[in-house]
Amino acid sequence: MLFALRRLLPKKKLPKTFHRHEIPRHVAIIMDGNGRWAAERGLPRTAGHYAGMGALRRTIRAASDLGIDVLTVFAFSTENWKRPQEEVDFLMRLPQEFLETDLPELMEKNVQVRMSGSREGLPVHTLQAVDTAIKKTKNNTGMILNFALNYGSRAEIVTAVRKITTLVAEGKLDPHDIDEKSFSQYLYTAGLPDPDLLIRCSGEIRLSNFLLWQLAYAELWFTDVYWPDFKGEHLLAAIEAFRKRDRRYGGIKL
Ligand code: FPP
Repeated sequence: MLFALRRLLPKKKLPKTFHRHEIPRHVAIIMDGNGRWAAERGLPRTAGHYAGMGALRRTIRAASDLGIDVLTVFAFSTENWKRPQEEVDFLMRLPQEFLETDLPELMEKNVQVRMSGSREGLPVHTLQAVDTAIKKTKNNTGMILNFALNYGSRAEIVTAVRKITTLVAEGKLDPHDIDEKSFSQYLYTAGLPDPDLLIRCSGEIRLSNFLLWQLAYAELWFTDVYWPDFKGEHLLAAIEAFRKRDRRYGGIKL
């Protein structure tokens, strides 16, 4: 573990080593601030998204080195369709560009790719890139890299309710068998543990329809850093804050 930390931070800033239980199992990130990062440099918004891809690459390396089990990244929300067509087209090409370049490294790092979101409305080329990565990495046993793509939490919950009520109407599911655990299995994140830590960049302090069910007991960490400037040291700062939190899940410390 110490080795991983040394690679992430300049020597002087090296923190104490983390114990395994101090590392969040599942980290979710709202990668915000790409547009403002670009505007500050007089660049088009798409340049910010491109730079954001670099930050994603760095974060995957850092998270995998730290032994995080699941990294969920908010790549495109169901609300992002409202953006100018040119920006939407650019964002839809990014998973393809990223996965084509980085799949060999993801394989080398034993990373498994998944997607949480609606397939409806996504261009065929985007889906093909993601599906190829999912297929190629399906037997990898390292970190799960979960792309929240065309994702909206309320739509996810409504979709789950629709699936459940259909099964009930068909007599295939007894309403008494629906509990929090079984309900989770109808969400896009089925099979994944709930996030322990949510990181949002760029100074915005809100959830923006991201993992509303799953974040019920997550620790939240916000930073003013724009996503393209996000580095391993910021991930470490978030984990450092996380390990100091007292997670009581509504109970009390005895
Ligand atoms: C929010 O910033 C960011 C997005 C909507 C896109 C996220 C995409 C990336 C980080 C690129 C990497 C993704 C993949 C799939 C390889 P914003 O545009 O809302 O920023 P602003 O609030 O400053 O305008």
